[in-house]
Amino acid sequence: MSTDIYAEEIVAHYEHPHNKGKIAGADAEFHDFNPLCGDDITIYLKIKDGKITDAHFDGTGCAISVGSASMLTDILMGKSVKELETMGVHDIVEMLGIEPGPARMKCATLPLKAAQKALFVYMKKDPPSASNEPRV
Ligand code: FES
Repeated sequence: MSTDIYAEEIVAHYEHPHNKGKIAGADAEFHDFNPLCGDDITIYLKIKDGKITDAHFDGTGCAISVGSASMLTDILMGKSVKELETMGVHDIVEMLGIEPGPARMKCATLPLKAAQKALFVYMKKDPPSASNEPRV
């Protein structure tokens, strides 16, 4: 696929997001935000027997952050908590199909950061690093 087609898919997810809205009784949730722009995303997860059985998001953001949240919640369903724990920037680039520039990488990874922090709270672990960036 060309870069334009990937960009169109991100915009399509932004305009018609999948899995948008709170999960009542979520097992894990985390609200995260981009301090540079004020955009915010909350991720909600249902977890059973070590697997993510439902993933939703809510919040506002730019096309890349909302598109990334929509696509991420699609691919998280059925993954193990270990798989989410070890996801990193390369997974987001692969999911989006394009490599956002340095200025947009924080937008693209905001939903993954929120999902991993939700998981760490659920597992009562500390976030992965002082930088709080997704694992690479
Ligand atoms: Fe705010 Fe992208 S500009 S998350």
